[in-house]
Amino acid sequence: MKTPQPLLSLRTPSAAHENGDVRGISVMMHHHAGRKTLRWICHIAYLCAAVCLLPAQAATPAIISDNAIFKPVQAQQAMVVADEPLAARIGLDLLRQGGNAVDAAVAIGFAMAVTYPRAGNIGGGGFMLIHQADKHRVTALDYRETAPQKAHRDLFLDAQGQVDGQLSRFSPLAVGVPGTVAGLLLALEKYGSLPLSRVLTPAIQLAREGFPVSPDLHQALQSRRQHLSAAAQQVFYHDGQALAAGQTLVQKDLAATLQRIAEQGRAGFYSGDTARLLIADMTAHGGIMSLADLAQYQPVLRTPVQGEFRGYQVYSMSPPSSGGVHIVQLLNLLSAYDLRTLGHNSAATIHYMAEAMKYAYADRAKYLGDPDFVSVPVAGLTALEYAQQLRKNIDPQRVTPSKDISAGQPPGYESPQTTHFSVMDAAGNAVANTYTLNFSFGSGLMAPGTGFLLNNEMDDFSAKPGVPNAYGLVGGEANAVAPGKRMLSSMSPTIVLKDQKPFLITGSPGGSRIITTTLQIILNVIEHGLNLQEAVNAVRVHHQWWPDELSVEQGLSVDTYHQLQKLGHKIKESPWAMGAANSILRAPDTGRLHGAADPRRSSAVAVGF
Ligand code: DON
Repeated sequence: MKTPQPLLSLRTPSAAHENGDVRGISVMMHHHAGRKTLRWICHIAYLCAAVCLLPAQAATPAIISDNAIFKPVQAQQAMVVADEPLAARIGLDLLRQGGNAVDAAVAIGFAMAVTYPRAGNIGGGGFMLIHQADKHRVTALDYRETAPQKAHRDLFLDAQGQVDGQLSRFSPLAVGVPGTVAGLLLALEKYGSLPLSRVLTPAIQLAREGFPVSPDLHQALQSRRQHLSAAAQQVFYHDGQALAAGQTLVQKDLAATLQRIAEQGRAGFYSGDTARLLIADMTAHGGIMSLADLAQYQPVLRTPVQGEFRGYQVYSMSPPSSGGVHIVQLLNLLSAYDLRTLGHNSAATIHYMAEAMKYAYADRAKYLGDPDFVSVPVAGLTALEYAQQLRKNIDPQRVTPSKDISAGQPPGYESPQTTHFSVMDAAGNAVANTYTLNFSFGSGLMAPGTGFLLNNEMDDFSAKPGVPNAYGLVGGEANAVAPGKRMLSSMSPTIVLKDQKPFLITGSPGGSRIITTTLQIILNVIEHGLNLQEAVNAVRVHHQWWPDELSVEQGLSVDTYHQLQKLGHKIKESPWAMGAANSILRAPDTGRLHGAADPRRSSAVAVGF
């Protein structure tokens, strides 16, 4: 295919690397400068970078140039990048003591249920991708929540047949059967090396003895108060006030629940006291989840979705997540364009990305669902021939309106919180884990005596064909509610290999934006040659077919805006920063590990040794 000409004549291949830096300046400045001033600063910095063409940089991904403004944390042997420092440290300590990446990931998963309650959880679910160095194998672990047996297709419709968002988001019916405990235990049993008690002890201690509330946690609690149930408020608030930064948060009931898990394994959660406390409270408040639902919950090992991009092997989460399928589909679609030459975040590059994204999300709405219930055409959607066919519809000079791509309906709102962490050990084992309660603090519900928050993942089902969920995502039959079924997800833990060795470990929260965020990390590193921190920090864009608008983070240059508008894009500056892609990269030449915590989450850290 002939490479289309750049739309912005200022962009040149040799300026591509500096563009990352220019973007970096804009991201840093926006805290200090007003919007208009910022745009001017971006504009001038951008012109300077383009005009003062510095010598071309090597395109090799993973190179950290001396003059880069953002640089990843570096380590020789092992690395953890996560949203919360106490939990990250726990993982790192285990790695130092000879635990492998899975031991560390499981310990972090349990610890974040204590220290990062808005998204870290044992009352939710998620997905884990695991690279086993000795077997050269990547496995996908699905511990997504399931619908209770009494759930049915029209569970969230009122008497008039309208979707009741309150029911699917904040009532006991919103809660899917939690998968996290079963998932983490299975990961440890199959791929870990340490005993459960050792991996759980740090989390139990943090819950029992408490830890100082961070400014970040204080703020999260303050903003979500009206959304948390009485039992949850008792844990996190004193006299009606969110615990202040520096105060000690003790979670005795949570410590007891974790202790039961340490002693009895999955029975400590899915039966016995924990299960009884949980089901008694749900039943008392009109819930439908039963003891049998808990007892029957099973995590599933699946084959990850695999694709190839510029000589790298991309592994990502298979259905019931849509993430892997659409990341590979999008990479296939975009592989025919020389995005590097067009320039990172140039109007031309963003145009191709946005157009491709619409086709991917249109397919998502139609085809994606739980593969144990519907047949998902994974092979077809990720085939190069299919990408070629779709690409014919993409016009380099003009937007195709979403209505001409397929039918659907406008948006909803996002209340972010999910969390992604990446771990890598000295042997080359790697874990990418994304787990969630769905919203920040999930449904806000907590069964008295259990100490853990419950998810509201049921809202990820399509309550009614064509009616958007909280992320504005539409779906149909494939993602309808059914007993025992897993709701469709966008979570995309991803491991990219180069020559059979892990190269990039990534993934993100962000609801519908998870897929496009993860895609942009891969493109920023492999296609645009940004170092990992630049790749993570860079301004992100997103299109999800419906609503028909291109959503962009703050800091895109004003001339890029205008160019995109000329092509017909309806641009909306996102009121939220998109995602939090805590990532690790292993430099193929030196073997050094680069860790990039996403600055969009103020508590995120990269730690290594
Ligand atoms: O599984 C999903 O796709 C959503 N429940 C994830 C929610 C999320 O990422 C919220 N985050 N920031």
